[in-house]
Amino acid sequence: MIRPEGHPILAAALDVLMLPLAGVRPRIVNLAEGRVLEIGVGTGLNLAHYERATELHAIEPDPHMRRRAEARAHGLSIPVTVHAAGAEAMPFPDAFFDTVVATFVFCTIPDPEAAAAEVVRVLRPGGRLLFAEHVRSTVGPVYAAQRTVDPLWQRLAGGCHLTRDPVALFAAAGVTELEVHRRGAAWAPMPVVTGQGRRAG
Ligand SMILES: C[S@@+](CC[C@H](N)C(=O)[O-])C[C@H]1O[C@@H](n2cnc3c(N)ncnc32)[C@H](O)[C@@H]1O
Repeated sequence: MIRPEGHPILAAALDVLMLPLAGVRPRIVNLAEGRVLEIGVGTGLNLAHYERATELHAIEPDPHMRRRAEARAHGLSIPVTVHAAGAEAMPFPDAFFDTVVATFVFCTIPDPEAAAAEVVRVLRPGGRLLFAEHVRSTVGPVYAAQRTVDPLWQRLAGGCHLTRDPVALFAAAGVTELEVHRRGAAWAPMPVVTGQGRRAG
């Protein structure tokens, strides 16, 4: 959960903590086209990879993360606006975006169902959701370990949950044509999926 004062230590450490996932970013973000929204942009690690976006909006509720993302946005060749907002109630009209990008954020959003509904609302019909997320394990003993560690992990990692299933959330919210790729070993303690889907046209 985002405390009103944010997570200054996590924001300062995030770039290093996220290094193992660096290879996943360009593959997802390079696909974003047109008017793009990134939810929970963090420190802005994806920003340099938006090669085909014409206009970029990002939301981020944590002021420490947001400051870093704004600094990264300076000097990019596309216009970038970083908004102080959470994904559960976004300050955009219906059907405003061609693409929504979510990387490693549905683990942390306090109300992921509301956020998934908002993603569908702000996407234009036929618009694309691109995602990379860590998910609950499909291996029974690993999932059991995730559930045991999860309460402590949430406290240490700014509200991050280990046991969520964002792809099921997207489907329930109305994202169609879902393509999902599982990455890494089946026994990974923090399995990662990448993929995309569309708002029904
Ligand atoms: C693990 S970080 C990932 C940051 C970034 N997406 C990335 O890939 O590097 C999770 C991010 O989710 C943000 N977050 C937390 N609650 C949120 C909410 N309700 N809506 C949008 N983002 C949120 C956090 O502030 C943090 O920046």
